[in-house]
Amino acid sequence: MTFKDGHLLGLEYADKEDIELILNTAKSFREILERPIKKVPTLQGKTVVNLFFESSTRTRISFELAEKRLSADSVNFSSSTSSVKKGETLLDTARNIEAMKIDMVVIRHQSPGAPNFLARNLDANIINAGDGAHEHPTQALLDMMTMLEKYETLEGLKVAIIGDISHSRVALSNIHGLLKMGANVTLCGPATMIPREIEGLGVDVSYHVDEVLEKVDVINVLRIQLERQDSGLFPSLREYHNYFGITRDRLDRLSRPITIMHPGPINRGVEIASDVADSEHSLILNQVTNGVAIRMAVLYLLSGGENVNV
Ligand code: CP
Repeated sequence: MTFKDGHLLGLEYADKEDIELILNTAKSFREILERPIKKVPTLQGKTVVNLFFESSTRTRISFELAEKRLSADSVNFSSSTSSVKKGETLLDTARNIEAMKIDMVVIRHQSPGAPNFLARNLDANIINAGDGAHEHPTQALLDMMTMLEKYETLEGLKVAIIGDISHSRVALSNIHGLLKMGANVTLCGPATMIPREIEGLGVDVSYHVDEVLEKVDVINVLRIQLERQDSGLFPSLREYHNYFGITRDRLDRLSRPITIMHPGPINRGVEIASDVADSEHSLILNQVTNGVAIRMAVLYLLSGGENVNV
């Protein structure tokens, strides 16, 4: 199931041409977000359902905003107040929603592959808004868009992804996307948090954050999921911060400044120090702004849009 089949399930299934098309389209939509009236009639008459089975701030709000900016009708589903609570299956929930004549489904689900499952069983366009530890394609697209605003090309750009790679859908989507766009990707974190043999994808792996910081242009720092602190993957949050936390001291020792990114939500003082997250080299809020433009582009292209005259 590729982007050309009408779904965005993961960047593993997208080719370089698809990624470039989304990034270029998003650039045009980014301009709308600066206008006094941030709305165009492009998706008038289309209905989008946002199916969120897991909590979300950035992704849910930015999909909703993207739909509103494009004049789509959107409906929000939350598993906590739905018939899922009464035992309804994902397929029954989705089929019932589709029976109400909707066009697109944005889904966040705790199970890897849930969006692929819907794509096989529904006629609607399916967009993955994060499925377990599998993929989060729109996050990686907005990350790449943000890098491209600062650097002319991703070809040859040195990007490190730092943190719990094993449990991160953001990491996997970034790896697929960045490698397809020609970037050099280094993964860094405790050995317990980096999948074995992941070098086979074409990335470098290092367990020494100071060495990595010295050789890259951009770092994308992942959230340490607080629920993992008793899992034995690392001794304590304080230890994690000491060995892998991105601090002002670490950055001051480098021979040149590097760009700081983080998909959010941030655990300040754990994976990243507060002053680093808010520093002049941080693009964290630019990522959030670009998220709306990327989601507008994906909705537009999947609904059959081609020429971006908005
Ligand atoms: N980056 C991200 O997916 O954030 P949310 O969980 O708030 O959507």
